[in-house]
Amino acid sequence: MKVLVIGGAGYIGSHVCLEMMEAGHEVVVYDNLSSGLRENLFEGERFIEGDIMDAERLAGAMSEGFDGVVHLAAFKAAGESMTAPEKYARNNISGTVNILNAMCGAGVGRFVFSSSAAVYGEPAYLPVDEKHPTVPENFYGFTKLEIERLLGWYDRLKGLRYSALRYFNAAGYDVRGRVRGLERNPANLLPVIMETAAGMRPELRVFGNDYATKDGTGVRDYVHVNDLAAAHVAALERMERADESLVVNLGSEEGLSVLEILEAARRITGKPVPATIEGRRPGDPARLVASSALAAEKLGWKARYSDVDTLVETSWKVYER
Ligand code: WQD
Repeated sequence: MKVLVIGGAGYIGSHVCLEMMEAGHEVVVYDNLSSGLRENLFEGERFIEGDIMDAERLAGAMSEGFDGVVHLAAFKAAGESMTAPEKYARNNISGTVNILNAMCGAGVGRFVFSSSAAVYGEPAYLPVDEKHPTVPENFYGFTKLEIERLLGWYDRLKGLRYSALRYFNAAGYDVRGRVRGLERNPANLLPVIMETAAGMRPELRVFGNDYATKDGTGVRDYVHVNDLAAAHVAALERMERADESLVVNLGSEEGLSVLEILEAARRITGKPVPATIEGRRPGDPARLVASSALAAEKLGWKARYSDVDTLVETSWKVYER
């Protein structure tokens, strides 16, 4: 298939492009390089520098015809979305509307959407399956849910088929070491630990050790970015066979605590990785773990690289230099 990967120069997007090409698909990347990196572009793919807010440029790019679109061009800082909602509304919602309308205009009918576990909000039960109520705790999660709802209507009214992939905590780097680009100003746990190990920041601040969890620190479902990438390919290929849209969780189904990851990082890097215990971060649930049974059933997908050692080792290979 010929695939347009919007946001293909980003952290997850670059891994998706590699996986698509490995599966034999032709990749065109559309990215404004606002957080994406030129060094995340690979031989074999074509690059169009463009913004999703530029509806004309997007329509122009789409007009050459594609078998599918993968969309990962979004702002993703949950905290920032609460203080700058207009930025998230504009890019994440309006930008996606531009993409969908460009697809309709060009007759492109398959869409893989980068959604998030943030659509669920505070978990009412665990593991979280796709039937769990969707009550986002932050505006970022709201933008993802709003797009999923839009997709339902485009499916019904325009025959656009979509796969909304609700990622849990994306982490790790390409197991074959092909992606080398570091995220700028990361806020997520694993890159923060890696930056600390590499001496790029003085310490890890652990947000709370008084949760009702195995060791008091927050537990999350970390899913390796190569596993996520494989799910995008599976979703796209499934839509070619089955004329049906899908909303599906992508998680490892394993809960890892902050301290478990920190200990693995100290062991694997051989660095001290100083850490201080601080107060809880507002809006953080104690535990969040996925059920990925639906992804297994519909996509034949299962996390393969999401164990703590692989998550840390593949990240350290990139941060170590
Ligand atoms: C993980 C754990 C923290 C940083 C966020 C978004 C979510 C999704 C994924 C996009 C928690 C603890 C973290 C630090 C820490 N984004 N932590 N010190 O909050 O689970 O999810 O990213 O789709 O929408 O909210 O991920 O990596 O920030 O935190 O102690 O410096 O690490 O409290 O328990 P989170 P995270």
